[in-house]
Amino acid sequence: MMSDAMEKRFAREVAKYPPEQKQSAVMACLAIVQQERGFVSADSEKMVADYLGMPVIAVHEVTTFYNMYNQQPLGRFKFNVCTNLPCQLRDGQQALEHLCSRLSVEEGGTTADGLFTVQKSECLGACADAPVMLVNDREMCSFMSNQRLDELLDVLASQAKE
Ligand code: FES
Repeated sequence: MMSDAMEKRFAREVAKYPPEQKQSAVMACLAIVQQERGFVSADSEKMVADYLGMPVIAVHEVTTFYNMYNQQPLGRFKFNVCTNLPCQLRDGQQALEHLCSRLSVEEGGTTADGLFTVQKSECLGACADAPVMLVNDREMCSFMSNQRLDELLDVLASQAKE
Protein backbone atom coordinates (compact mmCIF):
# COMPACT_ATOMS: atom_id res chain seq x y z
CA MET A 1 0.00 0.00 0.00
CA MET A 2 1.44 3.33 -1.05
CA SER A 3 1.04 6.40 1.14
CA ASP A 4 -0.16 9.67 -0.41
CA ALA A 5 3.21 11.20 0.39
CA MET A 6 5.03 8.41 -1.42
CA GLU A 7 2.74 8.65 -4.42
CA LYS A 8 3.42 12.38 -4.66
CA ARG A 9 7.15 11.75 -4.57
CA PHE A 10 6.85 9.06 -7.24
CA ALA A 11 4.81 11.42 -9.45
CA ARG A 12 7.47 14.11 -9.09
CA GLU A 13 10.12 11.68 -10.35
CA VAL A 14 8.00 10.33 -13.20
CA ALA A 15 7.28 13.90 -14.38
CA LYS A 16 10.97 14.29 -15.21
CA TYR A 17 10.61 11.91 -18.17
CA PRO A 18 8.41 11.70 -21.26
CA PRO A 19 5.28 9.65 -20.48
CA GLU A 20 6.40 6.73 -22.62
CA GLN A 21 9.67 6.57 -20.66
CA LYS A 22 8.32 6.73 -17.14
CA GLN A 23 10.17 3.51 -16.32
CA SER A 24 13.31 5.64 -16.23
CA ALA A 25 12.17 6.74 -12.77
CA VAL A 26 12.62 3.23 -11.36
CA MET A 27 15.84 3.95 -9.45
CA ALA A 28 14.44 7.13 -7.93
CA CYS A 29 11.23 5.36 -6.91
CA LEU A 30 13.19 2.53 -5.28
CA ALA A 31 15.30 5.09 -3.42
CA ILE A 32 12.11 6.73 -2.13
CA VAL A 33 10.81 3.36 -0.96
CA GLN A 34 14.04 2.70 0.87
CA GLN A 35 14.07 6.14 2.52
CA GLU A 36 10.53 5.65 3.78
CA ARG A 37 10.60 1.94 4.63
CA GLY A 38 14.27 1.23 5.28
CA PHE A 39 14.46 -1.51 2.66
CA VAL A 40 12.90 -2.68 -0.59
CA SER A 41 10.75 -5.75 -0.05
CA ALA A 42 9.31 -7.97 -2.78
CA ASP A 43 5.94 -6.29 -2.17
CA SER A 44 7.54 -2.89 -2.66
CA GLU A 45 9.11 -4.04 -5.92
CA LYS A 46 5.65 -5.05 -7.13
CA MET A 47 4.24 -1.71 -6.06
CA VAL A 48 6.91 0.15 -8.02
CA ALA A 49 6.45 -2.15 -11.03
CA ASP A 50 2.70 -1.57 -11.04
CA TYR A 51 3.14 2.18 -10.71
CA LEU A 52 5.63 2.38 -13.57
CA GLY A 53 3.93 -0.23 -15.77
CA MET A 54 6.90 -2.55 -15.96
CA PRO A 55 7.50 -6.23 -15.16
CA VAL A 56 8.30 -7.00 -11.51
CA ILE A 57 11.39 -8.92 -12.61
CA ALA A 58 12.77 -5.78 -14.28
CA VAL A 59 12.40 -3.89 -10.99
CA HIS A 60 13.96 -6.80 -9.10
CA GLU A 61 16.94 -6.72 -11.47
CA VAL A 62 17.54 -3.08 -10.54
CA THR A 63 17.17 -3.75 -6.80
CA THR A 64 19.63 -6.60 -6.90
CA PHE A 65 22.16 -4.97 -9.26
CA TYR A 66 22.87 -1.92 -7.09
CA ASN A 67 24.02 -2.58 -3.55
CA MET A 68 22.61 0.73 -2.34
CA TYR A 69 19.22 -0.97 -2.24
CA ASN A 70 18.63 -3.02 0.90
CA GLN A 71 16.61 -6.15 0.32
CA GLN A 72 16.01 -6.69 4.01
CA PRO A 73 16.07 -4.49 7.11
CA LEU A 74 19.62 -3.49 8.01
CA GLY A 75 21.32 -1.58 10.79
CA ARG A 76 20.68 2.09 11.37
CA PHE A 77 24.15 2.81 9.99
CA LYS A 78 25.13 0.88 6.88
CA PHE A 79 28.82 0.81 6.00
CA ASN A 80 29.86 -0.07 2.46
CA VAL A 81 33.61 -0.57 2.45
CA CYS A 82 35.20 -0.51 -0.98
CA THR A 83 37.29 -3.60 -1.62
CA ASN A 84 38.13 -3.04 -5.29
CA LEU A 85 41.78 -3.06 -6.33
CA PRO A 86 42.86 0.57 -5.74
CA CYS A 87 41.35 0.46 -2.24
CA GLN A 88 42.78 -3.02 -1.66
CA LEU A 89 46.23 -1.66 -2.41
CA ARG A 90 45.73 0.90 0.35
CA ASP A 91 44.31 -1.33 3.10
CA GLY A 92 40.67 -1.54 2.06
CA GLN A 93 40.50 -5.16 3.17
CA GLN A 94 42.10 -4.24 6.48
CA ALA A 95 39.48 -1.50 6.97
CA LEU A 96 36.72 -4.03 6.33
CA GLU A 97 38.23 -6.56 8.71
CA HIS A 98 38.82 -3.93 11.37
CA LEU A 99 35.18 -2.85 11.26
CA CYS A 100 33.96 -6.45 11.40
CA SER A 101 36.28 -7.18 14.31
CA ARG A 102 35.30 -4.04 16.27
CA LEU A 103 31.62 -4.77 15.77
CA SER A 104 31.86 -8.57 16.11
CA VAL A 105 30.05 -9.24 12.85
CA GLU A 106 30.84 -11.12 9.66
CA GLU A 107 30.91 -9.16 6.41
CA GLY A 108 27.29 -8.52 5.46
CA GLY A 109 26.20 -8.84 9.08
CA THR A 110 24.37 -6.51 11.44
CA THR A 111 25.22 -5.94 15.09
CA ALA A 112 22.87 -7.45 17.65
CA ASP A 113 21.72 -3.99 18.75
CA GLY A 114 20.64 -3.21 15.19
CA LEU A 115 22.95 -0.22 14.92
CA PHE A 116 25.57 -1.21 12.36
CA THR A 117 25.69 -3.26 9.15
CA VAL A 118 29.02 -3.87 7.41
CA GLN A 119 29.10 -4.70 3.71
CA LYS A 120 31.69 -4.86 0.95
CA SER A 121 31.27 -2.53 -1.96
CA GLU A 122 32.45 -2.17 -5.53
CA CYS A 123 34.42 0.93 -6.56
CA LEU A 124 32.86 4.06 -5.14
CA GLY A 125 34.58 6.35 -7.63
CA ALA A 126 36.91 7.95 -5.11
CA CYS A 127 39.99 5.76 -5.56
CA ALA A 128 42.41 8.63 -4.87
CA ASP A 129 41.03 8.78 -1.32
CA ALA A 130 41.48 5.05 -0.68
CA PRO A 131 40.49 3.28 1.39
CA VAL A 132 36.99 4.68 1.25
CA MET A 133 33.64 3.76 2.69
CA LEU A 134 30.10 4.96 2.18
CA VAL A 135 27.80 5.47 5.17
CA ASN A 136 24.07 5.03 4.58
CA ASP A 137 24.54 5.33 0.82
CA ARG A 138 25.24 9.05 1.10
CA GLU A 139 28.26 10.06 3.12
CA MET A 140 31.67 9.22 1.72
CA CYS A 141 34.42 8.65 4.25
CA SER A 142 37.98 8.87 2.92
CA PHE A 143 41.37 7.57 4.07
CA MET A 144 39.79 5.14 6.53
CA SER A 145 42.60 4.19 8.86
CA ASN A 146 41.76 2.04 11.87
CA GLN A 147 41.97 5.14 14.05
CA ARG A 148 39.52 7.07 11.87
CA LEU A 149 37.17 4.09 11.80
CA ASP A 150 37.28 3.85 15.59
CA GLU A 151 36.53 7.56 15.91
CA LEU A 152 33.62 7.28 13.49
CA LEU A 153 32.15 4.31 15.37
CA ASP A 154 32.35 6.25 18.64
CA VAL A 155 30.64 9.29 17.11
CA LEU A 156 27.84 7.25 15.53
CA ALA A 157 27.30 5.16 18.67
CA SER A 158 26.96 8.33 20.76
CA GLN A 159 24.62 9.86 18.15
CA ALA A 160 22.44 6.79 18.48
CA LYS A 161 22.07 7.37 22.22
CA GLU A 162 20.80 10.95 21.75
FE1 FES B 1 37.77 1.99 -3.96
FE2 FES B 1 37.64 3.03 -6.41
S1 FES B 1 38.56 1.19 -5.79
S2 FES B 1 36.87 3.85 -4.58
